[in-house]
Amino acid sequence: MTVLPPAPPADLLRHQDPRVADLLLGELTRQSTTLQLIAAENFTSPAVLAALGSPLANKYAEGYPAARHHGGCEIVDAAERLAVDRAKALFGAEHANVQPHSGSSAVLAAYAALLRPGDTVLAMGLHFGGHLTHGSPANFSGRWFDFVGYGVDADSGLVDYAQVRALARAHRPKAIVCGSISYPRHLDYAAFRAIADEVGAHLIADAAHPIGLVAGGAAPSPVPYADVVCATTHKVLRGPRGGMLLCGGDLAERIDRAVFPFTQAGAQMNAIAAKAVAFGEAATPDFAAYARRVVANARALAAALAAEGLSVTTGGTDTHLLTVDPAPLGVDARTARGRLAAAGLVLDTCALPYGDARGLRLGTAAVTTQGMGEAEMARIGRLLGTVLKQTNEKAEKAEGARTRHVREAVVELTGRFPPYPEQLAP
Ligand SMILES: Cc1ncc(COP(=O)(O)O)c(C=O)c1O
Repeated sequence: MTVLPPAPPADLLRHQDPRVADLLLGELTRQSTTLQLIAAENFTSPAVLAALGSPLANKYAEGYPAARHHGGCEIVDAAERLAVDRAKALFGAEHANVQPHSGSSAVLAAYAALLRPGDTVLAMGLHFGGHLTHGSPANFSGRWFDFVGYGVDADSGLVDYAQVRALARAHRPKAIVCGSISYPRHLDYAAFRAIADEVGAHLIADAAHPIGLVAGGAAPSPVPYADVVCATTHKVLRGPRGGMLLCGGDLAERIDRAVFPFTQAGAQMNAIAAKAVAFGEAATPDFAAYARRVVANARALAAALAAEGLSVTTGGTDTHLLTVDPAPLGVDARTARGRLAAAGLVLDTCALPYGDARGLRLGTAAVTTQGMGEAEMARIGRLLGTVLKQTNEKAEKAEGARTRHVREAVVELTGRFPPYPEQLAP
């Protein structure tokens, strides 16, 4: 009988390839000593990382469980069935496909299942927070489909459902997409469903961002309303980088064939096992409490940033993300992102509901995983204000000193909330 070797020790990579080990350690140090405020990021658990770094990475498995184009798939079949069953139970979906390599692959497969090239699709315009896959001319979506964009109200920052309905009536799209990279409020899925029904369109919910909150019961679920739900598994959901599709039994076969063989071949079985681990974690009361804390932290951060004089889009948030305009502090978003990065606050710029100027997008999924709470959000808000307000000062010396001071405060703060145990270091 063969005995499996033990999991490789952490120093194996260091011994064999110190240059790569140094890069991994450098990134771990960066993630542990700066504040990860990018709304799309999180820290997966060591169990998810273990599944990702497992021998399932070696296995070719084109097709679906019990219908593969390769031999030796008994074990990975069981892993995929487990991931599918857990996803269905977690989201109350009749069907789940866990093979998409990414959120974009999931959206591509949804379009492939429901649309033909040249069809009209109504989605949030990119200037208002639509994703690349919602009709960007630089993306397959904009090249192959005729996208019409809806927006948000310039004053409130909220989706204008009357405009969505008017555009749907005027353009008779084959599908309506609801979902965004930066919309901080819950979407009214029932309203989107009603509009889609009125014009005979499919409803595709791209829930890449809120799906982790949905899993934890902290956001409404699109599953009862959308024909197809596209999602990522690596944001608030805290799984491996990857995608997922949920739908009713009536569309199951079309969705599966749209993933394999239409848009993908071999599934990544280590990622699928890691998705199973993440779905298992997300089904626990601990995760539900985490999801609620993520939202409470985002609200606390929004309040702290408003107190520092930044303008918070929609006046706050229902979710893990918020967008703010730094203009009242006399700084543009790109400059702000650079200054904040130098001080150890890592975040993105984003579109704003009005004009061409960009804003800042922040999220609380990662810092909440680290165990930070509302007191830390208030502190982060003050640190961010300190960095941005210094732009009015001419004296470069004073600026540098303040950035160093904030950087030290960030190192102190993150030192109290390490994302990973020390033994994970390569
Ligand atoms: C709304 C939305 N759709 C799709 C995606 C694409 O996900 P991925 O980067 O995994 O392709 C994202 C990623 O941020 C997203 O926010």
